[in-house]
Amino acid sequence: MPDLSEFPEDFVWGAATSAYQIEGAVAEDGRLPSIWDTFSRVPGAVANGDTGDVACDHYHRSSEDVALMRSLGLGAYRFSVAWPRIVPTGSGPVNARGLAFYDRLVDELLAAGIRPFATLYHWDLPQGLQDVGGWTSRATAERFAEYAGAVAAALGDRVTDWTTLNEPLCSAWIGHLEGRMAPGLTDLEAAVRASYHLLLGHGLATQAIRAEAPRTPQVGYVVNLSPIEPASDRLEDVAAAVRADGHVNRWWLDPVHGRGFPADMRELYGVDLPERSGDLAVIAQPLDYLGINYYFRQIVTADPDGPAPYARQLPVPGSPVTGMDWEVYPDGLEELLVRAAAEYGARRLYVTESGAAWPDTVDADGEVRDAERTAYLEGHLAACGRALARGVPLAGHFAWSLLDNFEWAYGYAHRFGLVHVDYETQRRTMKDSGRRYAALIAEHAALRAAERTPAS
Ligand code: NOJ
Repeated sequence: MPDLSEFPEDFVWGAATSAYQIEGAVAEDGRLPSIWDTFSRVPGAVANGDTGDVACDHYHRSSEDVALMRSLGLGAYRFSVAWPRIVPTGSGPVNARGLAFYDRLVDELLAAGIRPFATLYHWDLPQGLQDVGGWTSRATAERFAEYAGAVAAALGDRVTDWTTLNEPLCSAWIGHLEGRMAPGLTDLEAAVRASYHLLLGHGLATQAIRAEAPRTPQVGYVVNLSPIEPASDRLEDVAAAVRADGHVNRWWLDPVHGRGFPADMRELYGVDLPERSGDLAVIAQPLDYLGINYYFRQIVTADPDGPAPYARQLPVPGSPVTGMDWEVYPDGLEELLVRAAAEYGARRLYVTESGAAWPDTVDADGEVRDAERTAYLEGHLAACGRALARGVPLAGHFAWSLLDNFEWAYGYAHRFGLVHVDYETQRRTMKDSGRRYAALIAEHAALRAAERTPAS
């Protein structure tokens, strides 16, 4: 159980989603396809042939969804802006009709007392840019900054919390090396170039947001990190763990913290970076915060025949797992938060995603009894509390996700929501985990209020 007395008064209690996973309405108001519209139509790419065409129909139900956030007592909502709505082909003028959706959403959130945290890239690259090289091309980083600046100019009078990229590891490594996500490539050189341009795009977009936003913005960057441990004390496994840590964690943390790209990994990939002078300083713009998405730890063994980094994740015998077969390991979250603060000097951290998928159904009484997800939430919030007790500057926590949604290559088969979605009727049902989160948020507020009121 989390020790709520460790959570500061202004701790941000939120939930997160992303555009392609919930919005639907993929051809409305001038939106053009993203790489996920394309990828989800490749036979066999997504389970059951699912697509984000309708998803949670959030584009038409945002008011209902803001009401749900309100009933949870959320202080903040982390959502992403769909680039293909704002600049449909990826370059050229802003599409006012696409922007209008987010304009209304932000107003609705603020009216409900919910602080908007806007992410500018959660994997939905305009297909028009993919057609000319996508993230393997430097021009994409430049287009990203233009789009980011335009959104910041339009919404930055009301939105102050911005994220450039969400989980660039997935865009680069899973999308270009493992082929399990859009654009579905399996090419190390493309993957390394994409990783470089994503990071450059982050730096350029950070500058653009700071230049364009009418109110002083807080600009952050969101990475998915994993604690990495060797499967044995044999040298080959220990070395594999160092490589996996480089691939999963350091490659994404070092450059944005002014350390350049890790030399061991540059050597391992053996791909020339498309570096120009001055780029490293752009990539290392000071961050206002670092967002950590945490799902699992990785126990790895050497895998010389596998893809880079030649390390393979093994199941952890005896450990509980979620419906995705991901290990339930809350201590890993505490460890990563401490590492980000101790090793990288992070001065403000958010857990920008934490959550778990299990199959669940609405029972005959209209309830969703998701005891496992509820325990997962409590366990990971307890880890946040322990990190706070150790002095980590953790400013907030966003549950993944507000709603069940399109889980990328897994389609709709895996449910992460605090709120259940019936994809036939689009009916939303609050789960027990949602009620538990709401109760913890309320308890924390009551605790802090009692401290402010001197006992008579
Ligand atoms: C992280 C991603 O940001 C999100 O889009 C995804 O649904 C969750 N992980 C769960 O896999």
